[in-house]
Amino acid sequence: MKTTAKRTKQAAIEVTETVPAEAAKEEPVVTVEAKKKILFVASEAAPFIATGGLAEVIGSLSKAVAADERYDVRVILPLYQDIKKEYRKDFRFIGNIFVPLSWRNQYCGIFEYEANRVKFYFVDNEYYFKRPGCYGYYDDGERFAFFCRSVMEILGFINFYPDILHCHDWQAALAALYLKTIYCYRPEYQFIRAVFTIHNIEYQGKYSLDILEDLFGISYRYKNLVEFDHCINLMKGAIECCERFTTVSPTYAGEIKDPYYAHGLDQIVRRNEFKLCGILNGIDPDYYDPATDKALFANYNAEHPETKAVCKEELQKMLGLPVRPDTPIIAMISRLVSHKGLDLVKEVIEQVLRQDVQFVLLGTGDSQYENYFSGLARNYPGKVISVISFNSDLSRKIYSGADLFLMPSKSEPCGLSQMIASRYGTVAIVRETGGLRDSITPYGAGGNGFTFSNYDAYDMLYVINEALGVYRMKDEWARLMKKAMETDFSWSTSAKYYEGLYLGMLK
Ligand code: GLC
Repeated sequence: MKTTAKRTKQAAIEVTETVPAEAAKEEPVVTVEAKKKILFVASEAAPFIATGGLAEVIGSLSKAVAADERYDVRVILPLYQDIKKEYRKDFRFIGNIFVPLSWRNQYCGIFEYEANRVKFYFVDNEYYFKRPGCYGYYDDGERFAFFCRSVMEILGFINFYPDILHCHDWQAALAALYLKTIYCYRPEYQFIRAVFTIHNIEYQGKYSLDILEDLFGISYRYKNLVEFDHCINLMKGAIECCERFTTVSPTYAGEIKDPYYAHGLDQIVRRNEFKLCGILNGIDPDYYDPATDKALFANYNAEHPETKAVCKEELQKMLGLPVRPDTPIIAMISRLVSHKGLDLVKEVIEQVLRQDVQFVLLGTGDSQYENYFSGLARNYPGKVISVISFNSDLSRKIYSGADLFLMPSKSEPCGLSQMIASRYGTVAIVRETGGLRDSITPYGAGGNGFTFSNYDAYDMLYVINEALGVYRMKDEWARLMKKAMETDFSWSTSAKYYEGLYLGMLK
């Protein structure tokens, strides 16, 4: 929308109203673009609440887009019980409304908080969100339906009708569906464009068709939009009804057209391919900065990486490993689930352990993997350490203290750990899939890490050995480390792609 505005001392870019022709004659006028209004709908966001990469992306992408003055970026989230107290105490209650959800009428309190030019809103309802954690309840469908319906109702309350409604993952899919089936008939909502981002196609939000009207409050008229495989499939519904949909790396955007990666949705993705694009995630370079990170035993940067050795020594001491500066530490920080490639690790790790290496694993997940890695540590004392927990402080000590970071995922929409590790000078070994392929390039071709392409344990073993060989060549290793640390993983480029996408949708 183009508007004209008086030239005033206030930022012209803020002006959204059209200046009457009379007034326009009196003073020179400038033509400005109104700020584009973007609303992120998501089920988690750093720093408030995080269970995985989604939260980091919401936290850092919103900040990166908002850094551009042309955008007014807001984020809306559920007010979970576990939202960190240090932030919660500063949330401001701005009012409450009642939200219709089929035959129910539910209380919805609204809190507000601002940081880095991004306004965050939190949806309060103790019945739905005063529980430990974010997910895994029998009524998750209803909880996120309430959340999404609240999003649509809150727009009126805060008088913010976005140009772009950007919904992330299945928990936010219903916001797009409500927009397209219910709200777009109201004048204020009719120009809102919707974009849906798939962070992981594995989790689709599948429910029985019986609850479409009764629970989600969507008329059976729209059954075709959400039905897939005789179920409600919320991700499928969002793909169908959004103007554009994206995923978190260009390679993954190609992969999800293939049944091997798509968890059943490949035909839906192919049918909607014309509106799909893949944009690689970034990391927040201030949040992950070895030069300032307080969790580290010592700080360093790409120009002066010498004190990384202190991080290694202290890590070895802390974990009870022999302090040996020349023994390479291979680290894994991962959810312990099958698509992380743990079966490959199981198959060949003992062959790796025959050499002079130390192996450190941090993560939680499926009990079969937890037990396996605990057992491995027992069998290789002084060589293998398995910490079965999720510990952000320790993860940073490992990112900085290790030499090699192993991430052999079977599939990986983007992955952030390989970027964090690289930034901390810990060289990544990855399988060429999804965002791993788009962020780590092979050493042999002058790249910043080591890669293998087939999902094969011996291909992985081969590159691990190649990496260990390069590690022994001190100067070469220093060059590679520097290259990894200097790779630009910031959001600067990717945020521009999102902005381009938004602008394209608003034409
Ligand atoms: C999901 C994906 C991960 C991606 C993250 C953020 O957790 O599994 O690969 O990095 O979302 O988009």
